[in-house]
Amino acid sequence: MSTVIRTENLRNTFAAPTSPALDQRARPLRDLRISVTDRCNFRCTYCMPREVFGSDYAFMPHSDLLTFEEITRVAQVAVGLGVRKIRLTGGEPLLRKNIEALIEMLAALRTTEGAPVDVTLTTNGTLLEKKAAALKAAGLGRVTVSLDALDDQLFERMSDSKVSVKTVLRGIEAAARVGLSPVKVNMVVRKGVNDAQILPMAEHFRGSGHILRFIEFMDVGSTNGWNMREVMTGEQILARLRERYDMQPLDAGYRGEVASRWVYADGAGEIGMITSVSRPFCGDCTRARLSPEGQLFLCLFANQGHDLRALIRGGASDQALSERIGGIWAGRDDHYSEIRGRETVIKKIEMSYIGG
Ligand code: GTP
Ligand code: 5AD
Ligand code: SF4
Ligand code: SF4
Repeated sequence: MSTVIRTENLRNTFAAPTSPALDQRARPLRDLRISVTDRCNFRCTYCMPREVFGSDYAFMPHSDLLTFEEITRVAQVAVGLGVRKIRLTGGEPLLRKNIEALIEMLAALRTTEGAPVDVTLTTNGTLLEKKAAALKAAGLGRVTVSLDALDDQLFERMSDSKVSVKTVLRGIEAAARVGLSPVKVNMVVRKGVNDAQILPMAEHFRGSGHILRFIEFMDVGSTNGWNMREVMTGEQILARLRERYDMQPLDAGYRGEVASRWVYADGAGEIGMITSVSRPFCGDCTRARLSPEGQLFLCLFANQGHDLRALIRGGASDQALSERIGGIWAGRDDHYSEIRGRETVIKKIEMSYIGG
C-alpha cells in the first residue's frame, strides 16, 4: 500500500514532457531494461564463465544497489520521457530479495495519459515455479525464460549448474498457468555446441502457446571468448527448421521489436529470430539500460555508463533527473551492431551486469 502512495506522490509533483525524447538518429526512448542484481545462480559459459566469476569474484555489495524507491523514481522519470516497456533483468532478477515489491511499484506507474506501462522480466527460470503466482499478483505482465537445451547433460554443461531442464520447464508451465503469457523462451545458439538442439526445442514448444526465440551468439562483454565461427546465423537456423517444418514470415508486433517473427504454416504457433550479428536492428533501437547501482547505459555494447545514483543521492529534483536522462538520450548515437568488426571497443560491459 505504502508503495502505491510513493509513486502517486511522484506523479503529482512532476510534470513530464509530452513528446518522447529523440536521439541523434531520431530514435525515441521506449524501453527501459533494469538490471536489479549482478548475481546469478548459473554460470553460463558464454555469460559468466566460472574462471572469471568464481567463488572469489567480488559482486556488488547491497549498499551499492539502487533501492526499489530509487529504481522506481528513475523509471517514472523515464516514463515521462517516453518509456512504455520496463524489463527487469540481472544477473538473475528473481534472486533480488522481495522483487515482487518492486514489480508492484513499477506496475503502478502511469504515463501522462494515464496508461500503465508493460512490466516484464527475463529469467533463467529456476525460481519461477515457486514465484510465478506472486509475480503475477504483483502486476507483472509476462516473462521470458532462457533455455539453451532440452538435453540435461548439455544444459548442465552450458549453464555450468546442477539444475535440471525439468525445473526450468516446470517454471515455464507455472508462468503460463498463472497468465504470465505468452511466455517467450530464449535459446542462444552456439554452432557446434547446441545447434543439434534446434529441432528438439522447436518440436517441444510447437503448439504449446509459448514463443521460442533463437538468439545469435553475440560478442557481449570481454569474457565469453566470442568467435564468429561459433555464430549460427538466423538464416542458417531457419534453414534447419525448414528441413522439418513449413515456416512463414510474420510482421513485427511493434516498431523496434528485436525478434523477427515466423509461424508454422500448420498453425502450431510462432517462433522468433534475434539476429544481432547477421542482421543488426540498431536503426530501430529504443532501449536504455539501468545497471544495479544506477548507471545508465544506452547500448548493450557500451563501455561507459552515466551515473544517475550520484545525482539521486545528491538530492536532484525529478525535473533535474529528467533533464539529465533526456540530455543523455539526446546525445546518443550508438549503433554498435551495424559497425561490429570495423571498430573495436576496448572493454565492453558484461551481459550479467546489464542484462542483455
Ligand atoms: P519482448 O520483445 O518484449 O519480448 O522483449 P525483448 O526481446 O526485447 O527482450 P529479451 O530480454 O527477451 O531480449 C532478447 C534478446 O535479444 C536479449 O537476450 C539480447 O540477447 C537481445 N537483445 C535485446 N536487446 C538488444 C539490443 O538492444 N541489442 C542487441 N544487440 N541485442 C539485444
Ligand atoms: N549472446 C546472445 N545472447 C546472450 N544472452 C546472454 N549472453 C548472450 C550472448 N553472448 C542471453 C541470455 C538471455 C538473454 C537475456 O540474453 O541467454 O536469454
Ligand atoms: Fe545467468 Fe542469464 Fe548469464 Fe546464464 S545468461 S549466467 S542465466 S545471467
Ligand atoms: Fe541498440 Fe546497441 Fe543493440 Fe544496436 S547494438 S540494437 S544500438 S543496444
